[in-house]
Amino acid sequence: MISFINVDIELNRKPVFSNLNLTIQPGELVYVAGRSGSGKSTLLKSMYMDVRPKKGEIQIAGYNSRTIRKREIPLLRRKLGIVFQDFRLLEDRSVYDNLAFVLKVTGTKEKQIPEKVMQALGSVGLESAAKAMPSRLSGGEQQRVSIARALVREPLVILADEPTGNLDPDTSLETLEYLKKINAKGIIVVIGTHDYELIRHSPARTFLIREGALAEAAVRETETGYRPVPV
Ligand SMILES: Nc1ncnc2c1ncn2[C@@H]1O[C@H](COP(=O)(O)OP(=O)(O)O)[C@@H](O)[C@H]1O
Ligand SMILES: [Mg+2]
Repeated sequence: MISFINVDIELNRKPVFSNLNLTIQPGELVYVAGRSGSGKSTLLKSMYMDVRPKKGEIQIAGYNSRTIRKREIPLLRRKLGIVFQDFRLLEDRSVYDNLAFVLKVTGTKEKQIPEKVMQALGSVGLESAAKAMPSRLSGGEQQRVSIARALVREPLVILADEPTGNLDPDTSLETLEYLKKINAKGIIVVIGTHDYELIRHSPARTFLIREGALAEAAVRETETGYRPVPV
């Protein structure tokens, strides 16, 4: 479960959020929507404690922003899988080694690594790409590798910040289908996006950020295309 209780967030003394309250239940997939600069990335960063609240508290994966120690932040992040718009794969090594690296640095036993890596690649349909270098793959495939890398440590939560921002519309929907499959196994998935076609295609609880506050919204067709409107 993820909870925000009366959370204020500032960046460089500029308020970004005030008095956020939010609960995400185990097994949920939710969207965080809002225009560019509204605070989607900041909200996700606060979940992996890259940004800390000025007031209130955030509870996630058994940790609390009020009480977590600096040295515990890497332990929290092992329970979270983070996916970025720009994939952030290591270009100098194979797909397999991108995933194996994550396990090695966190002390997974050598003999458990192959099975865990291939299982994560299987979750995104990319076992056959294990030996490929990332640059030889399409954008959609690279994003699936980055999702597999997020999965390989068997996280409780996947946080995806504009995961389809660099992908064409069909590939975006395909990527979303993999995230939904992962969610169906019980992992919380939080998707920050301004791609309202995505939400329209697969509706789920949607939090719209406007002027530092969150409102639950649904995507509707309007004269200017699909838009989130408060529900
Ligand atoms: N490191 C930072 N320092 C100061 N302000 C920032 C920083 N990062 C983002 N901001 C500001 O915080 C607001 C929210 O940004 P962001 O979370 O990146 O929005 P989004 O992801 O929705 O585009 C914006 O006004 C942005 O300019
Ligand atoms: Mg952003």
